[in-house]
Amino acid sequence: MQAAYYERTGAARAVLQVGELPEPAPGPGEVRVRLHCSGVNPSDVKSRAGLRSSVLPFERIVPHSDGAGVIDAVGGGVSPARIGERVWIWNGAWGRANGTAAEWITLPARQAVALPEDTPLEAGACFGIPALTGLHAVQSHGGVQGKTVLVAGGAGAVGHYAVQFARLLGARQVFATVSSAQKAALARSAGADAAIDYRAEDVATRVRDLAGGAGIHRIIEVDIAANGALDAELLRPGGELVVYGSGAREFSLPFFPLIARNLNLHFFIVYNLGEPDRAAAEQTLTRLLTEQRLTHQIAERLPLAQIAAAHELVESGRAIGNVVLTIA
Ligand SMILES: NC(=O)c1ccc[n+]([C@@H]2O[C@H](COP(=O)([O-])OP(=O)(O)OC[C@H]3O[C@@H](n4cnc5c(N)ncnc54)[C@H](OP(=O)(O)O)[C@@H]3O)[C@@H](O)[C@H]2O)c1
Repeated sequence: MQAAYYERTGAARAVLQVGELPEPAPGPGEVRVRLHCSGVNPSDVKSRAGLRSSVLPFERIVPHSDGAGVIDAVGGGVSPARIGERVWIWNGAWGRANGTAAEWITLPARQAVALPEDTPLEAGACFGIPALTGLHAVQSHGGVQGKTVLVAGGAGAVGHYAVQFARLLGARQVFATVSSAQKAALARSAGADAAIDYRAEDVATRVRDLAGGAGIHRIIEVDIAANGALDAELLRPGGELVVYGSGAREFSLPFFPLIARNLNLHFFIVYNLGEPDRAAAEQTLTRLLTEQRLTHQIAERLPLAQIAAAHELVESGRAIGNVVLTIA
């Protein structure tokens, strides 16, 4: 089969190769998926670049955790009725050598989730990481019903979903920070009541004006290192800071505002969601997809052969939305 892979970490063009690898067969409890799309996330790019570790956990890695396609074979113990099912995939390359940047993937049946009929396969390649991260950030810890929510980076791949989920799951007000007029328009079209340009405006003053001085119930944070101190100022007593990203390996937070207002800090990585949280997120996502309530922001579609360009685009931070590889 055609697949993209790397055997050492480094710059995209230096290490990513596209070539023939053996076609996999599903083992017991597994399904085989003929992939149509593979989603490229910052996490995939960081792993390939060696930012987490320069030592590869496997000799050869087919990258990317997210993808979508059609089940075309099942292993022992999996119902043959699943053959022909359109699915989206989670954790394809998390702790595994063979991700979704290939014509086929085999993986535990639980990691291939049925895609509702009207949901395009390319959208399905954005769910495992961006949609589930945005959804868990909104839905966990009691959810956002009746709350005021601020989504930092509300036009990002995760942020765009987080804004939609906050709106759809009952937030009273949803605000987003962005860095351009184009991103502001995107956040507003996703359901944000207001978008604040964090590079050009005084975020604290704007948020206080918008939230009526009462403060924010929940902040969904893409960059705790840059924004943590501001978040601690903006949250109301008992508020929640839900963190899924950081622009730096280390950061500091001011102690007094956090403790004086009984603020709650929650960190999570979507790869390691516990089973109840994952099941809850999948259930809500499936419902909202079936009701056709979500929009999917695909920034760029590139063929598998152009995987290095796709990685560079994600690395550049210029993509507004998800970068998806199409697999012939
Ligand atoms: N914990 C998890 O499970 C999890 C899951 C998914 C992603 N992540 C991490 O989360 C980050 C974002 O992922 P993504 O796929 O959404 O990337 P993305 O599509 O590039 O979105 C990031 C967004 O954040 C904005 N941004 C960057 N720095 C910001 C800041 N200091 N304040 C406000 N907005 C800021 C960016 O826009 P501007 O630069 O124009 O402001 C961009 O719109 C990455 O570091 C990724 O590794 C973590």
